[in-house]
Amino acid sequence: MIRWEKLNDVNKKYFQMFYSNLKELEDTGLYTMGKNVEQFENEVKEYIGTKYAVACGNGLDGLTLAIKSLDIPKGSEVIVPSNTFYASVLAILRNGLVPVLCEPNINTYNIEIENIKKLVTPKTKAIMVVHLYGNVCDMDSINQFAKENNLYVIEDCAQSFGATYKGRMSGNLSDVGVFSFFPTKNLGGIGDAGMIVTNNEKIYEYTKLARSYGGANYNYEIEGINSRMDELHAIFLKEKLKDIEKINEVKIRNANLYLKNIKNENIIFSEDTPDSKNVYYIFPIRCKRRDELKKYLYDNGVEALIHYPIPLHKMPVFKDKYGVCEVAEEISATELSLPCSAAHTEEEILRVIELINDFK
Ligand SMILES: Cc1ncc(COP(=O)(O)O)c(C=O)c1O
Repeated sequence: MIRWEKLNDVNKKYFQMFYSNLKELEDTGLYTMGKNVEQFENEVKEYIGTKYAVACGNGLDGLTLAIKSLDIPKGSEVIVPSNTFYASVLAILRNGLVPVLCEPNINTYNIEIENIKKLVTPKTKAIMVVHLYGNVCDMDSINQFAKENNLYVIEDCAQSFGATYKGRMSGNLSDVGVFSFFPTKNLGGIGDAGMIVTNNEKIYEYTKLARSYGGANYNYEIEGINSRMDELHAIFLKEKLKDIEKINEVKIRNANLYLKNIKNENIIFSEDTPDSKNVYYIFPIRCKRRDELKKYLYDNGVEALIHYPIPLHKMPVFKDKYGVCEVAEEISATELSLPCSAAHTEEEILRVIELINDFK
């Protein structure tokens, strides 16, 4: 079976080093927010190119704190894609704000300025872009519009570590960016972890304080949360970060093999944003007969997944609040994610291609 994800194969190398560094934890007894977390923050900010980086427990907390740092009045609206993962929207809700679902471009899967503009009201205070599947949004037009209309821009970069737009890293293209290091991500760890990156000192100071209850030495200045990063995650992630370019290059090679060799009129590829580097967190295709194709691949030894099977507006948590989001529904009904990890070999990808080309 060609699995969709091959985490242990990708991570084998980093585990070896991880074990040899664990002794340090035993010696120092510093298990959270120690020297390794600080080093990892420094290395991430250097790689992304921002002035600041704040480690936290996971991507959802990072997004929640990033939004909170903007001090937006309760009840204000935040524009967010209708086809994103639930965490993007949940982070907005956790701040007492109102998510306004924006339909994406069906070909890039990302939100664009024309649709964003239609949703702006006097209550809109921010736009949360999501660089979905590793493809960066067209940020110049969004930033320009946000500037003219006094709106914050937040980047949900959970799926785009190492992706670039006009030569700049995702995360460094807005007021504040947030990464997730959940195991399946391009820079995936061995548990939950996340990182906030920004060039804004106020956002930095606030999020740094807020991730650790809101103070230090038993003296609390604000109402924060407990979202520390464990040293063991930082030890592992620091080592993997050294290889992130190589990891992304293999994913891009696999994606290019698909793009070049799949020849089947039932299959629709996505489009990259101009001047960007897509890091293919997943490799998405669309197919009208998606469920049939998924089963056919599985019966022939290939696992493929759907991102995401239920669009946000149809989830029980929102009841019928959002009406119809046709584009999100279309993506949800036709999208299929093919195996595309850094551990998939060329032979495995060619086997998937052969099967898809034979799907009639
Ligand atoms: C688009 C998006 N946003 C936010 C998150 C939340 O990250 P985490 O699972 O680390 O909380 C994820 C990942 O799971 C994601 O894919």
